[in-house]
This record gives sequence, C-alpha cells and structure tokens, in this order.
Amino acid sequence: MGDFLIINNVTKTYLARRRTIADFILRRKIPYIRAVNGVSLRLDRGKTLVLLGESGSGKTTLGRLIVGLEKPDSGKILVDGEEVPYVGDKSYMRSKLRGKLQMVFQDPSSSLDPFMTIKDIVSEPLIKLHMPKNEILRMVIEALEMVGLDKSFLNRRPIELSGGQRQRIAIARAIVTRPELVVLDEPTSALDVSIQSQILNLLVKIQRELGLTYVFITHDARVARFIADYVAVMYLGKVVEYGSADDVFNEPLHPYTQALLSSVPKVGVRELPKTISGEVPSAINPPSGCAFWPRCPYAMNKCRNEEPQTKVINNREVRCHLY
Ligand SMILES: Nc1ncnc2c1ncn2[C@@H]1O[C@H](COP(=O)(O)OP(=O)(O)OP(=O)(O)O)[C@@H](O)[C@H]1O
Ligand SMILES: [Mg+2]
Repeated sequence: MGDFLIINNVTKTYLARRRTIADFILRRKIPYIRAVNGVSLRLDRGKTLVLLGESGSGKTTLGRLIVGLEKPDSGKILVDGEEVPYVGDKSYMRSKLRGKLQMVFQDPSSSLDPFMTIKDIVSEPLIKLHMPKNEILRMVIEALEMVGLDKSFLNRRPIELSGGQRQRIAIARAIVTRPELVVLDEPTSALDVSIQSQILNLLVKIQRELGLTYVFITHDARVARFIADYVAVMYLGKVVEYGSADDVFNEPLHPYTQALLSSVPKVGVRELPKTISGEVPSAINPPSGCAFWPRCPYAMNKCRNEEPQTKVINNREVRCHLY
C-alpha cells in the first residue's frame, strides 16, 4: 500500500504511573502500558490514512511517533526513505525531515497560546527553521490565505476568534513550513457539528493543493468514511484491520471493526445501531490471547489462549482467528 510512509514493527511503552521514592525504597516494580504494540503500516504519498479506534487504543501515541514527538522503544518509522528523527535527539537538527512533518491537535483552544498574535503563532515554525525575515511574512500570509483567512487576522489573537477560526490558524501553522506529511489528531472533534464539515472540506482542499500525505486520527467512523483512503483500526495498541477505505467500510472483517462501523446509521436502514458491549480492558493488564475476546461475539477457546497473527484476506490485513 505504498512506501512513502513505512511503519515497521513499532512499539512504545509508558510507565503506568510516576515512580515515587517509596517505589525505590521498596523496590516496587511499576507496570508498563504498551500504548503502541508492534504496529506495521505502509502508505503512499498524497493519501490519507485514518487511525480509527476507541479511547486508549494508541492513536495519539502512534501519531506522535510518526512526527518524531515520541521515540519508539523498538521498530522504525521512515518517511520518503528517511528515518523519522526524534525531536529530542541531536540528529534532528541535521535531518532532511525537519519541518516536513507536522501535527495538528484536537483542541485549538489549548494548543494555541490565546494571547499571542496570529502572526507570531504562524511564524513560529519558520523562525525555528531560520527562514529569512522578509520571507516569513509572505509565507505566513500565504498560509492564512490557504485556510481561508486574510491579512486582517495577523494582529488578532486566538482569544478573539471562534473555534473554527482557531483550528484554521492551527492548520495554517502546520502547513506554513510546506510539510510533506501532516498528522491530524481529531482535528474536528472539539468543534460544533456545523463547523466540522467546513474544516474537513478545507483539509481535503489543502491536501490536493499541496500534495500532502495525511494521517488522520478519529474515533468517529463517519468522519473516517469521509476522509480516508486507507483505514487502520486500532485496539489496545495493535492494528486489528488495515485496508483501503472501500474494502474496510464495505466489508469489515474483524469483529471489532464490524462493531465500530455498525454504530454508524446506514441510509434507509431503520435498525437500532448495535453498540459494542463492555468497556475497553485495562492497557496495564490486557487480556491474554486476542485482546478483544472478552467483548467479541465470536470468541472461541483459541482466542483466549493464542494471539492471532496478521493475515492478508480480501486485500487487507486482519488479526483474527476467524480467518
Ligand atoms: N505520556 C503517557 N504516560 C503514560 N501513559 C500514557 C501516556 N500517553 C498515553 N498513555 C497511555 O497509552 C495508552 C494509549 O493512549 P493514546 O492517547 O495514544 O490513545 P488514543 O487512542 O489517542 O485515545 P483517545 O481517543 O482517548 O485520545 C492509554 O492507555 C494511555 O493512558
Ligand atoms: Mg488521542
């Protein structure tokens, strides 16, 4: 499914809580959370990959790994043949990917300093890249125009703007460096429904104009359907199904994907949506075998004992003992 973005067996663990002095004295072990657990994915340039899954499935962690805001414990991420540098490493300053990977966060009210001017907010990434001053203003105005705002916004501040305008500013800041890949972490979920589709359409327009590759994070199957070329369905840190949006939405294979998608009402169908029963189990102590078995309507004995490996079925990858 492409080689512009290659994610190769990436794992990221966190300590479940901070280590305290008492932990030291008592030599207590703190449990780990495998936020991302052996994920491999590939994507072509110019396409949109949606990471779909419930809360805690590891979507944001994977997004942060893709842009270098986190460092994998093991595995590799390559963009256009270059290994993604971790922003905290020395090699970051020399990497060809500097400025080429950007991320837009869920809530523009917390990701933008409310008291900075729009000009300063959108210039910031260019200043970090040591762009010449006279270029900066031109590039900032260009980025604002791309998100449908004009020069009159330069000296305004986020606090004076609506939620939709703030998210446009966050997008302008992400595209001002002319990146190649943008991770969008639930970019519309903090917005009013009426504004959501405006922003989604804007993102599609910008993608076409700049030839951008998107990794779009959402828990909303309808948003996924609208924007995705490819979908990776995540459950407790693992990809359980990965394929083209058409294949996955028309014929979801994994029982988890089926449950997620059945909560989207189909046109003309008057059936009540079947919701997924139960809650996502704890990431600290995930179930043995297939992590989905406690909630799965098809669970067999094998599912409790043996972890399903990834298989290629009907043009996609799926991790399930049914196949
Ligand atoms: N900095 C961190 N320290 C400790 N645990 C973390 C950290 N970041 C994430 N986690 C844990 O890793 C797991 C995956 O979290 P992540 O935020 O990636 O999920 P998500 O799919 O983005 O969820 P949501 O839909 O709620 O945003 C969760 O169990 C979370 O508690
Ligand atoms: Mg998240």
